[in-house]
Amino acid sequence: MKKYVKILSLISALLIAVLCSGCGKKSMTAEEGKLIMATNAEFPPYEYYEGDKVVGIDAEVAALIAEKLGLELEIADVAFDSIIPGVQSGKYDMGMAGMTVNDERLEKVNFSTSYAKGIQAVIVKEDSDIKSIDDLEGKKIGTQQGTTGYIYASAAPEDGGYGEENVVGYENGAVAVQSLLKDKVDCVIIDNEPAKAYVAANEGLKILDAEFANEDYAICFAKDNTELQKKVDEALKELIADGSLQEIVDKYIKAD
Ligand code: ARG
Repeated sequence: MKKYVKILSLISALLIAVLCSGCGKKSMTAEEGKLIMATNAEFPPYEYYEGDKVVGIDAEVAALIAEKLGLELEIADVAFDSIIPGVQSGKYDMGMAGMTVNDERLEKVNFSTSYAKGIQAVIVKEDSDIKSIDDLEGKKIGTQQGTTGYIYASAAPEDGGYGEENVVGYENGAVAVQSLLKDKVDCVIIDNEPAKAYVAANEGLKILDAEFANEDYAICFAKDNTELQKKVDEALKELIADGSLQEIVDKYIKAD
């Protein structure tokens, strides 16, 4: 009889252990079964609205990643400069927004493998007296707040910038371009693919034939969520290797 009790309690202890494995273990994502991606959907062709849906390269690549991970993708459209704080706090699982990897951001978040290149470009009005980057000194420069365009342009002249007082950080690129059209600023510094999209969508604008800076885009994660980072990275590498990523890029970016 005593032996029975012992075996029984052993079995129940085992059962509890099996049932509870994973109990108390934090889920890899903010919400069970979901992959919440924070973006700023004013950045064609990476993310923008088609009706009430966020589409673009980042949205489509993220959908394929979520599929590989067996998670349901949810896109949160937020201000660009609140993506990193939201990822750090665990509100969002990852940030994907044509986001450039730089040292300042690497102190706050981890980044995936890079999946695209960006170039900072300068948009001016067609009749502008700004003919090259050398003419930017003393001009009013429009950018999107929190972006690398803002960071470079607002740096002190001795650091290669044009001084904070000459730079305006707008809520998004579209607003910056509207300000240029209304002559509130003399140029807009923004990533080249959105620059092309804005120039195509608005009359009287052109892009200067000069590259302001070369950058790598990647997905960011909270520093303590290396589990998700690894899984996403694996999925992303597969999408790069099998050509799926390129297929999406080719759909949105036509060779010039
Ligand atoms: N590549 C630039 C940066 O990381 C601009 C990104 C802006 N992205 C956006 N979805 N609005 O700072």
